[in-house]
Amino acid sequence: MNIPQLDLQAQYAALKDELQAAMARVCESQRFILGPEGEALERELAEYCGVPHAIGCASGSDALLLALVTLGVTHEHEVVTVPFTFFSTAGAIARLGARAAFVDIEPRTFNLDPEKLGAHLKKLDAAGRQRTRALIPVHLYGQPAEMNAINEIAAQFDLPVIEDAAQAIGADYGGRRVGSLGRIGCFSFYPTKNLGAFGDAGLVTTTDATLADRLRAMSRLGCTHDKYHHDHVGWNARLDELQAAVLRVKFRHLEDWNRARIARADRYDELFLEAGLSDAQKTYPDEKHPIAVPYRAPNRRHVFHQYVIRAQARDALKGFLAEEGVGTEVYYPLPLHLQSCFHAWQGREGDFPEAERAAREVLALPLYPELTPEQQHYVAHRIAAFYHRS
Ligand SMILES: Cc1ncc(COP(=O)(O)O)c(C=O)c1O
Repeated sequence: MNIPQLDLQAQYAALKDELQAAMARVCESQRFILGPEGEALERELAEYCGVPHAIGCASGSDALLLALVTLGVTHEHEVVTVPFTFFSTAGAIARLGARAAFVDIEPRTFNLDPEKLGAHLKKLDAAGRQRTRALIPVHLYGQPAEMNAINEIAAQFDLPVIEDAAQAIGADYGGRRVGSLGRIGCFSFYPTKNLGAFGDAGLVTTTDATLADRLRAMSRLGCTHDKYHHDHVGWNARLDELQAAVLRVKFRHLEDWNRARIARADRYDELFLEAGLSDAQKTYPDEKHPIAVPYRAPNRRHVFHQYVIRAQARDALKGFLAEEGVGTEVYYPLPLHLQSCFHAWQGREGDFPEAERAAREVLALPLYPELTPEQQHYVAHRIAAFYHRS
């Protein structure tokens, strides 16, 4: 068998006619920037996320930059976030000359640890509190961060919360969708996401009308009303009509796809438990149970953008699976505090032990709505073979 980590061909084959008709509609109109498709997508996604305002933009990276700029983050500031996430979360902070103040993750969910967040903020002196301007929890792999606790702490320190929901569209926390849980929500529609465009695209969400106007203006070169009157120094971060048209077709299937992902995650959990490879109670793998399956925290819906195990001898397992035709990925092999581009922040090995341990252990297995029971069985069977348990 040959099972890639992600296979988008099946999705395209199923929707080919609809997608091509939607793209043809845009071509016929010859309206490529700021038109009816983008407006309709914004309305549909605002309703879906349970917010009054959604603004399409060029990428998830631009969504984060728009959020930070709109909240007034400059080179004088620090923004609290996690070291175990995709580059852009901290990259957006660095682009503004600001500093990322990292707080370690909670090992079961891989998300921001609220206790460590509280401890970090409490130990700041007056100048440190003054410098700290915002907080970015990430809903990693599709599972919402511990938003009640995070929002409570943020309120105590008067910090706006920016949700990095790039991987989590459709996830919810306490029955409320991500994107509606902080001051601003940031989404990515990079092609591999649960809702993926045919190129780069993103979205910001907010419940605040003033922020929405400002986010929109910033994404349009700083223009609020008129194209050639610039109220702010914005940039071109617009969503184009072709991407919006593609996303509207795919959006109609998002709920079905998310349900299919969750069902396949359930199936993996069962297969690994049956094979004696995992113990649902354990956070870390050990000799007896060489893999740890994803923990699902209570009171929230994990939409499994990725199904990520922790594995003993991770790199050897990855190599073995590649030889057996099973594609896997490591998200992410090097935590952000150790990236050379952020050397000015003086991160050292040992600063964030949970992020560093996760980087050594995580492995994302094949997961997509079209993955078949036979394919899943094969993946589990080959993992069992690696640990000599077949
Ligand atoms: C957690 C996270 N934040 C931000 C981004 C940036 O999104 P994009 O690739 O659309 O710029 C991504 C996407 O890859 C992501 O996974």
